[in-house]
Amino acid sequence: MGVELETGWHVAVIGCGYVGTVVAASFARLGHRVTGVEINEEKLADLQAGKAHFYEPGLDLLLRVGLSRSLLSFTAVAAEAVAGADAVFLCVDAPEDPERGADLTSVRSAIAAIAPHVSPEQVVVTKSTLPVGAAEWVATTLRRETGFDVPVVVNPEFLREGAAVDDFLHPSRVVFGGDDVPALGRVEALYRPILDQSFESAREGDIPEIIVTNRASAEMIKYAANTFLASRLSLINEIAQICDAVGADIEDVAAGLGTDPRIGSRYLRAGLGWGGSCFDKDLAIFAGVAREAGVRPTLIEAARSANKAHRVWVFEKIATLAGSLADKRVALLGISFKPETDDLRDAPAVELAQRFIAAGAQVTAHDPVVKGVPDLPELAFASDAHGAATGADLVVLATEWDEYAELDFATLAPLVARRLVIDTRNFLDAPAVAGAGFEYHAIGRPGDLPHRGRPGGHTMPATAQRSVQ
Ligand code: UDX
Repeated sequence: MGVELETGWHVAVIGCGYVGTVVAASFARLGHRVTGVEINEEKLADLQAGKAHFYEPGLDLLLRVGLSRSLLSFTAVAAEAVAGADAVFLCVDAPEDPERGADLTSVRSAIAAIAPHVSPEQVVVTKSTLPVGAAEWVATTLRRETGFDVPVVVNPEFLREGAAVDDFLHPSRVVFGGDDVPALGRVEALYRPILDQSFESAREGDIPEIIVTNRASAEMIKYAANTFLASRLSLINEIAQICDAVGADIEDVAAGLGTDPRIGSRYLRAGLGWGGSCFDKDLAIFAGVAREAGVRPTLIEAARSANKAHRVWVFEKIATLAGSLADKRVALLGISFKPETDDLRDAPAVELAQRFIAAGAQVTAHDPVVKGVPDLPELAFASDAHGAATGADLVVLATEWDEYAELDFATLAPLVARRLVIDTRNFLDAPAVAGAGFEYHAIGRPGDLPHRGRPGGHTMPATAQRSVQ
């Protein structure tokens, strides 16, 4: 890993959850001096030892390098981080609150913790996703608490779990929302090595777009982006259902769509439905923002309900293929909401497991990093895919971890009770699975697929798409 010279900038990061830890470690990677604040003792001890409390590729290494170069430190005391900082990044979470839209308890506590220590020369940056209008409220609250104006800039994160460090250091765009020009300039200066891709191991050709706008627009961009992506996925999954019914192949349909530059090829992989910590929460809060503003969020709500319905559709398809699920043994491969993360929030695989169990099946899961689901003790775990498949009446691939692409179905065949594979991510090598004697089913792909192999017309096969997402 390259070593940057110290830049002289000091950054405070309030809240070292998923976003805050990535922000803190990545800014230190650029040579800024960063102090992260985390009030959870266990998480703090982990961070001080150079270990994130969640699985994110590349992050622990970045933490260890930052700590060893004394550019990165963690504390529970906000004053230690805020005093002397050029910028204070608010990275605390704002979960969905069914009554009030978003629960701003952590944001309120963060403001109370920093208020006695901030100065008008500093800039407070809202980084975590907060409802539209929240930055205005942060500025007003800080003014009330301090008696002076503290500039507040909105700088939304677009980090994908599993690729968060890369997304932070090599973004497609960086958004700054605010009207205080010197404050905007200071935040831009922190990002300069990223904006110019000038740090060691930067990608020279990948210069991000810079979007400077007002605070409400910056907040909107984040919600609008997640709503677009989630809606697109809801739509492709609905199209996959139609493909399933009429004998068309969603992979060819997606390739045909993706080659239209107006549409583009990414986020077109049909599957088990979208999940994760952001999409459903952000759409729910965004719909609330719309309603409060007097706008009926018809499409936003449809994207959410279509996703819920799609997960049920996949379950019903599997139940039909299995005959009945009562007393059946199911091997479930992949539990996290997507590969390269251990995050179980709104994980479609967990919901599928719940439905299988409710239908009377015995489910044994395997996941490369998840080793148990706390809320679902009935879900057994095996240490490898072969263990999960032993005695199984059906093997269901629910999360497309790369290692499952290498799975040798010929060695699974003698272990299972029935040779039936349902690939809910259209991920496996269908001819290889069928060649090992399994009945293979995918989502929105014709039943005769295994006999004819992958269709020839693909400009962007699912496996290739995966590598760019
Ligand atoms: C998302 C946004 O991408 C990110 O910009 C934002 O900051 C946080 O929310 P993340 O939740 O980490 O990131 O996951 P993402 O990679 O976007 O995938 C979301 C869901 O969509 C996953 O369940 C994934 O499996 C699903 N997905 C994605 C598909 O089903 N098909 C696709 O083609 C792409």
